[in-house]
Amino acid sequence: MGKLLIRNWKIMEKNKIDRRNFIKLGSLGATVVITWPLLNSCNGFASENKITINPDFQADLDFELTAKETDIQLFQGNTTKVWMFEGNVLDGDKTTVQKLGKSYLGPIIRVRKGQKIRVRFKNQLPEESIVHWHGMHVPEEDDGHPKDVIANGETYVYEFEIMNRAGTYWFHPHPHGRTGPQVYNGLAGLFVVTDDEEQRLKLPSGEYDVPVVLQDRQFDNNNQLVYLNRGRMDRMNGFLGNRILVNGNPDIKLSLKSGCAYRLRFLNGSNSRFYKLAWEDGTPLVIIGKDGSLLDSPKSKPYVMLGVAERIDVWLDLKNRPQGSQMIMKSLSFSPGMMGMMGGMMGRGRNNLPLGSTYEILKINIDKTGSNDFELPQRLAEFNKLDPATAVNRNNPRTFRFFMRRMQWTINGRTWEMTGVTEEETVKLDTTEIWEIVNSGGRMMGNGNMMGERGWMRNRGEMERDRGMMGGGMQMPHPFHIHHLQFNILERDVSGVDSRIWNSVKDGFIDEGWQDTVLLMPGMSVKLIMRFEDFKGLFLYHCHNLEHEDMGMMRNFKIE
Ligand code: C2O
Ligand code: CU
Ligand code: CU
Repeated sequence: MGKLLIRNWKIMEKNKIDRRNFIKLGSLGATVVITWPLLNSCNGFASENKITINPDFQADLDFELTAKETDIQLFQGNTTKVWMFEGNVLDGDKTTVQKLGKSYLGPIIRVRKGQKIRVRFKNQLPEESIVHWHGMHVPEEDDGHPKDVIANGETYVYEFEIMNRAGTYWFHPHPHGRTGPQVYNGLAGLFVVTDDEEQRLKLPSGEYDVPVVLQDRQFDNNNQLVYLNRGRMDRMNGFLGNRILVNGNPDIKLSLKSGCAYRLRFLNGSNSRFYKLAWEDGTPLVIIGKDGSLLDSPKSKPYVMLGVAERIDVWLDLKNRPQGSQMIMKSLSFSPGMMGMMGGMMGRGRNNLPLGSTYEILKINIDKTGSNDFELPQRLAEFNKLDPATAVNRNNPRTFRFFMRRMQWTINGRTWEMTGVTEEETVKLDTTEIWEIVNSGGRMMGNGNMMGERGWMRNRGEMERDRGMMGGGMQMPHPFHIHHLQFNILERDVSGVDSRIWNSVKDGFIDEGWQDTVLLMPGMSVKLIMRFEDFKGLFLYHCHNLEHEDMGMMRNFKIE
């Protein structure tokens, strides 16, 4: 076998065939080396498709992650066809890659800041895929950009150091146009990072550190997953299932011990559903972490809005809860402010679990007894919050508006291009910036006619007028996510949010800590501060409603 080394291979829009031919050529025996300076000098950016390991990279953890189709017994009767990741540690501590019960979900990967990891992603799916490490600060070639997809039978090698602070991250596929179905079929797992600071706090660990991944799904009479059954309508609105699965399991019970304290790590792993989480008996939710960090101190909330892809770490104290008792978590009712005629009425007619209705999320059966001595620390993590005064654009934030235009969800009127990136989306390495993200809504049916060309927003003025407008406007919540970094939220402007919406969600936002995903209700805007450091490259920002993302509500930004 010829040694094949492909470095910094430039990927263009229609490069997949080229790349494959190229690889075939290589495997005939030629050694092909393309160097960074060569490619870098003749085009704007370069990317690296890593199909071989770097022998100089000393991995603390080296594992295979295989995506494959399989049948599992989710219900009585017929098995269910799902796609799942399977982890297999080749070198390093075997306990760092943990299976999540008998579910399709997972595995959970537990790593520590400073560790070096190598992941050999093997695609055994009947289509292209690539894995993205959501929230992680990694170089471009390890980020799982859609341009780096591999075909069935191929392997992609990730090699990176864990640079993030302790937090609850996750991983999922990221091929363009197919992220929604691939996640929906079962491909997602938690990626949990710890560090020295967190270890000193002695937070609940082992069996007391419990994953709670929330997803909604729909099954047909043969127990098979149903996706996008309403076609274009589902894509516009986002797909909603009609039942909740926790950790990939339709039986939503957790069995925990009286006398113990727990850390519950919630991930909203749904495609487009988001939740207003609360304990049914009115016990406040005690939040200790959000996305990529612990908070500075625990926050008590009556409920929490958990947007798609967001994570919260919840402290649950069962010390005074008797054995035999139960706790129930619900999603409470709220006004999602959606979509005028389209999803609102039709969606409700068809789905017995409409967005914003009240339903059960999770049952906790306190059916055992035990004891542990984890205490809730009053101080959690130290922050070096970014100072707005250090932002290069402090008086002039970069603005990204999320709205619909010509039946397309767009960001500033643009949709996805594989490697396309504009001046507006280009930032400098080692700078701090403020970004303003605006959910502008958008007019969908100016004349009540969905397909009508009239009534599109043509200019900023019109767009402004449409902010927060209800009724005929096509408005939806959008969970904004940016790759490669964690930001701080500077402010959340709700002046354009319909008061019915705002009043139903206003106590549920956590704007502290380091985050990578933020939920924007219609008419809402947020100012985020972020720093671009360590790596140049092409990364993504997008709406994490997976149907919106797949439709093109996703763009590149470039650090140069
Ligand atoms: Cu959860 Cu672009 O990612
Ligand atoms: Cu991400
Ligand atoms: Cu969206």
